[in-house]
Amino acid sequence: MDPIVWEWIGAAIRWLHVIAGVAWIGSSFYFVHLDSSLKPRDGLPKGAYGEAWQVHGGGFYHMVKYLVAPADMPDELTWFKWEAYATWLSGFALLVFVYYFGAELYLIDKAVLDLSTFGAIAVSAGSLVLGWAVYDLLCRSPLGRNDNLLALFGFGFVVAMAYGFTEVFSARGAFMQAGALMGTIMACNVFMIIIPNQRKVVAALIRGETPDPRYGRIGKQRSMHNNYITLPTVFVMIANHYPLVYGAWLSWLILAVLIVVGVAIRHFFNTMHKGQRAPWGAWFIVFICALLILTINRLTPAEPAAEHSGLLPAPAMAPAPVTLANAADIVITRCSMCHAAEPVWEGLHSTPKGVLLDTPERVAAHADQVFIASVWTHAMPPSNVTEMTLEERRSLARWYEDRRAGAMN
Ligand code: HEC
Repeated sequence: MDPIVWEWIGAAIRWLHVIAGVAWIGSSFYFVHLDSSLKPRDGLPKGAYGEAWQVHGGGFYHMVKYLVAPADMPDELTWFKWEAYATWLSGFALLVFVYYFGAELYLIDKAVLDLSTFGAIAVSAGSLVLGWAVYDLLCRSPLGRNDNLLALFGFGFVVAMAYGFTEVFSARGAFMQAGALMGTIMACNVFMIIIPNQRKVVAALIRGETPDPRYGRIGKQRSMHNNYITLPTVFVMIANHYPLVYGAWLSWLILAVLIVVGVAIRHFFNTMHKGQRAPWGAWFIVFICALLILTINRLTPAEPAAEHSGLLPAPAMAPAPVTLANAADIVITRCSMCHAAEPVWEGLHSTPKGVLLDTPERVAAHADQVFIASVWTHAMPPSNVTEMTLEERRSLARWYEDRRAGAMN
């Protein structure tokens, strides 16, 4: 395939994915907000639970919610489902495009597990199916009657899967896979539960029967799950731009903390929208979580467990000073086949992220990024394809620290 066309296909799928996601999340936030702000009032139509007045775009809207269904079916009904389906479909296409076609670079790390391309793809796709099945079982089990307990188990399950992924995939692949799992759970909730249940309600109404209120309740539970995992999922989707996040040691634990952050923030807004007292404590939790993440990031050098010497404040460094010329030598040897104006690495058609690392000056200009990507984390080289050694990483650490200490060399 023509490389320019290939790049544009990738950009187009990403664009679509972001737009579909905005539409889905936007409508989902809107309805959760609307639901929370409904007020019961005497004189509402039969079957109506509450109403809300809203103003937007030059008009007033009078929204009325029917808890199970209105007495008569309206002729026209707007369904909200394609936002969710389009988000998942474009997301899966992106997963295939970036991580399956580029498995060698993004999904597989031979130092973690020596997987074939086919094996990695099978595990990735299979774990999405398995993940949904287990989550769905949890919801249908007796746990499903206790919202808090279910949430706790669901959280534990997702974190356990995220940990499992780090034992199978490259750091970046593992992090994205956890996001794909959360996104899949959300989309399947819509596709397999919420919409089919709603259809059953509509069908019962058309038959002139009273629909089972259970369908609505289950739909609402899944919908709330979606609402709470939205923020962490979106974070994972943008985290592939941050080697410090996905490349960190214990990245799965960082993900666990991030889920708590996302849930706390959602809880704050959901409660506010209900018109109840704002739970400011949620922000305290966010603050504690931020400290926790910084601590995890700092106290854990990214070197393999056997190599790092306890809880160091920084990665191990070479004992002797390292000059810029030495450091640039290392970087140019290990990085410039990709990070050049015309990468020679097969499958790369332009300088990754515009980060040029082909001369000592450019290496110096990108010192912070080089440090985070290849010393603090082992995000680069991807899957260590160019076999950078630990000694080389330690030399870069020494060069970087001396530079920061003012001894610019
Ligand atoms: C096999 C090719 C390859 C090699 C070798 C490689 N990189 Fe990269 N690098 C990439 C790709 C591809 C990306 C873009 C990843 C993405 O799409 O997010 C990237 C991104 C980066 C980024 C930007 C991260 C961001 O998203 O902000 C930095 C910094 C970086 N590399 C540093 C290095 C360093 C330092 C080395 C050598 C130790 C190195 N790379 C070796 C392919 C490579």
